[in-house]
Amino acid sequence: MSSGVEVAVKNLSKSFGPQNIWSDVTLTLPGGEISVLLGPSGTGKSVFLKSLVGLLKPEQGSIIIHDTDLVRCGENKLFELRKLFGVLFQDGALFGSMNLYDNVAFPLREHTRKSENQIRDVVHEKLELVGLLGTEHKLPGELSGGMRKRAGLARALVLEPEIVLFDEPDSGLDPVRTAYLNQLIVDLNTQTDSTILVVTHDINTARTLPDNIGMIFRRELVMFGPREVLLTSEEPAVKQFLRGARVGPIGMSEEKDAAELARESWSEQNGEVTENGAGLELMSQLQPSPGLPNRAGATRRAERVMNILPQLPERAQQAIVNSMPPTVRDGHPTRQPQRRGAGGQHFPGA
Ligand SMILES: Nc1ncnc2c1ncn2[C@@H]1O[C@H](COP(=O)(O)OP(=O)(O)OP(=O)(O)O)[C@@H](O)[C@H]1O
Ligand SMILES: [Mg+2]
Repeated sequence: MSSGVEVAVKNLSKSFGPQNIWSDVTLTLPGGEISVLLGPSGTGKSVFLKSLVGLLKPEQGSIIIHDTDLVRCGENKLFELRKLFGVLFQDGALFGSMNLYDNVAFPLREHTRKSENQIRDVVHEKLELVGLLGTEHKLPGELSGGMRKRAGLARALVLEPEIVLFDEPDSGLDPVRTAYLNQLIVDLNTQTDSTILVVTHDINTARTLPDNIGMIFRRELVMFGPREVLLTSEEPAVKQFLRGARVGPIGMSEEKDAAELARESWSEQNGEVTENGAGLELMSQLQPSPGLPNRAGATRRAERVMNILPQLPERAQQAIVNSMPPTVRDGHPTRQPQRRGAGGQHFPGA
């Protein structure tokens, strides 16, 4: 079993020519934990994932994995580090001229010395995992969007990656398959202790899957930390996003301008913005399937979060304490919170 690999991102900035995508992004994906990245369309979530695997080069900042800075290391080192990653790209990124079998076998043929017999076993195992056994001979163009997504997932997993990045794995999937997929992610994490980052627009996924959640908005990471922090947040953009409300700082095209916002005087208009998370109570987190052991990542996270508890916002503290079994809760009275500014919030160790 691999042991959770930590990914430490520090002061990362990315532009394309004059267009700044995001700046000064700092977060740590704790080893073996599941994290989710939210953000309106076009805010650079896919660009962030591609930067993590070294496909795009940020101009500033660092991405440290195993003491190596992936932003500045040489080609050979980058090639080595890339093998740690499994990536499910937003569009599946399958080779159009290869059938499903060859698509899924591709990384094994490229990166391992496995025989064709061994490859067949792995390919079949992964196709079964995503429910695609029997469709090996189809070309990507002959598959539905959801099937392509699942094929991309099978391919992302064939090298048993220690870090798995999912770019909107649930887009194009029906609700039942999304539920299966989220369970599959939890089980995968339980069995491999892999570090997982999921980009999603699915609020239900965000509320039930991750240990940690972050959100990109207005070219910065507005928040990253234990799930309870974002899910109980009073940041207007975060609240609006979690409720899927029209009223709030996020608009149809880019972020709304100040004048539009003022016209709206959006607080509580149309009842779309409710007070303090009413109707959005914290849901319990998905657990591994019956028969699997406890998640090592969840155990480590519980300890980590207890250590930073006093530094978290009060509502998050309360939510964390409430989610603990009574025996544990008694030993951890919520302490007085520190005042925090309204701007970007980053939590130590988060
Ligand atoms: N290779 C590239 N060259 C130039 N601009 C790019 C490139 N890739 C992405 N962009 C720009 O970066 C911005 C962010 O794109 P990105 O695909 O990361 O958004 P996103 O947050 O993933 O959106 P969505 O939720 O719709 O998938 C967009 O304005 C896009 O046009
Ligand atoms: Mg994207």
